Amino acid sequence: MLKWLVLLTILALVSAEIHRIKIHKNQDHKNTRQHRKQAIQALKQKYNQQDVIIYDDGVPIYVQPDYGYDYPSQNSDDYTSEELGNSMNMYYYGLIGIGTPEQYFKVVFDTGSANLWVPSAQCLATDVACQQHNQYNSSASSTFVSSGQNFSIQYGTGSVAGYLAIDTVTINGLAIANQTFGEAVSQPGASFTDVAFDGILGMGYQQIAEDNVVPPFYNLYEEGLIDEPVFGFYLARNGSAVEGGQLTLGGTDQELIAGEMTYTPVTEQGYWQFAVNNITWNGTVISSGCQAIADTGTSLIAAPSAAYIQLNNLIGGILIQGDYYVPCSTVSSLPVLTINIGGTDFYLPPSVYIQTYTEGNYTTCMSTFTDIGTGFWILGDVFLGQYYSEFDFGQNRVGFATLA
Ligand SMILES: *[C@@H]1O[C@H](CO)[C@@H](O)[C@H](O)[C@H]1NC(C)=O
Ligand SMILES: *[C@@H]1O[C@H](CO)[C@@H](O)[C@H](O)[C@H]1NC(C)=O
Ligand SMILES: *[C@@H]1O[C@H](CO)[C@@H](O)[C@H](O)[C@H]1NC(C)=O
Ligand SMILES: *[C@@H]1O[C@H](CO)[C@@H](O)[C@H](O)[C@H]1NC(C)=O
Ligand SMILES: *[C@@H]1O[C@H](CO)[C@@H](O)[C@H](O)[C@H]1NC(C)=O
Ligand SMILES: *[C@@H]1O[C@H](CO)[C@@H](O)[C@H](O)[C@H]1NC(C)=O
Ligand SMILES: *[C@@H]1O[C@H](CO)[C@@H](O)[C@H](O)[C@H]1NC(C)=O
Repeated sequence: MLKWLVLLTILALVSAEIHRIKIHKNQDHKNTRQHRKQAIQALKQKYNQQDVIIYDDGVPIYVQPDYGYDYPSQNSDDYTSEELGNSMNMYYYGLIGIGTPEQYFKVVFDTGSANLWVPSAQCLATDVACQQHNQYNSSASSTFVSSGQNFSIQYGTGSVAGYLAIDTVTINGLAIANQTFGEAVSQPGASFTDVAFDGILGMGYQQIAEDNVVPPFYNLYEEGLIDEPVFGFYLARNGSAVEGGQLTLGGTDQELIAGEMTYTPVTEQGYWQFAVNNITWNGTVISSGCQAIADTGTSLIAAPSAAYIQLNNLIGGILIQGDYYVPCSTVSSLPVLTINIGGTDFYLPPSVYIQTYTEGNYTTCMSTFTDIGTGFWILGDVFLGQYYSEFDFGQNRVGFATLA
């Protein structure tokens, strides 16, 4: 009897083998208000949203400024002079290999999209982002096969475009054969210049993949390289570039969580979208029966327009040039934001939902609640960094747990 138990336990341990991948956090740039504007612009490009205009009785009461693709603009004396064309701030990335022998790329593991793309050695000389990054050279890989197709992924008014290649993609020693991905010969404007990552590895559902390409994680499971079609993130908020967190493939890393995982079903397969019971702040219900998506590829929290205005007003936010600021002296006394998912309350303290920026002798405190015109909430790294998040394709559910 005992023998059987021991054997069963060993079997369970073996079948629950998971793969831990160290992820890194960008620390190349100071976190400035300018980065934040770029992050908002990037988010709008990602979700293909136009500039946000909110009407009250036909009168525009709030117009989100057009930050442009090549911020800073002429009107930049408010901001540090740091030259930065990128629009992605605060991202987490990890290393993958493509081809035989492996060519290495740093990619953002992005639950808010579903395609893998990296810059191509065939990219245009005018593609500044490509010139700055690692480039995939298909001629140097013995396992490369051309699909004969092109690809294009829309980012706002521009697009990442090139050829669809088929090759071996290796994540943490797990070699996915015949993975289709984009080798980009052009990238829009300055969206991907001066960033620490080369490309993006989308971890959303195939339904949102451009050209209906099978995402890498699907093949990882289909080819039997992992036991469970499950992955999870621990994003270190105060991490370093070296210790940015962990992506777990094939299960959940129990060592990283404390207590039970709260699961909630995916309501629409595309993004990792789920229902939120309610979002409350100091007893005021901001939203109830709403939808949210968990997006590791953004740092911010985006709210539907009405909730965005209400919440920023409640925290005492003052709208300056399209951003809400609060007096820094009030931050420590602000109430927590409570998000009820699957019957469990998840908390965001003010030290997390307000970001502090120090520029010269001045410190400003800015709300992370932003609006890009979506009807659903986008819970980015500000939220995901507080909890362990699990993404389960097998049972089509998302789980959150307290960090150990
Ligand atoms: C790509 O690899 C091939 C074969 O190794 C090499 O001849 C070629 O110069 C490389 N191209 C670039 C742009 O690096
Ligand atoms: C792919 O794009 C190139 C130009 O970038 C074009 O010459 C070629 O015809 C396109 N191929 C397909 C299959 O669309
Ligand atoms: C990959 O494609 C090659 C050629 O089509 C095929 O022989 C091989 O079985 C495929 N491997 C997997 C794991 O799908
Ligand atoms: C973040 O790390 C720094 C350096 O290790 C430390 O001084 C600081 O107190 C930490 N902040 C938080 C919020 O843990
Ligand atoms: C929170 O609610 C209490 C009770 O209604 C109120 O007295 C307090 O001023 C509120 N706090 C803030 C920061 O609005
Ligand atoms: C939020 O939703 C949970 C779960 O449905 C419920 O128990 C709780 O009473 C709700 N809170 C408010 C303020 O409506
Ligand atoms: C910052 O403060 C220091 C000391 O008070 C002062 O010497 C310096 O001129 C200030 N710098 C700016 C840019 O205001």
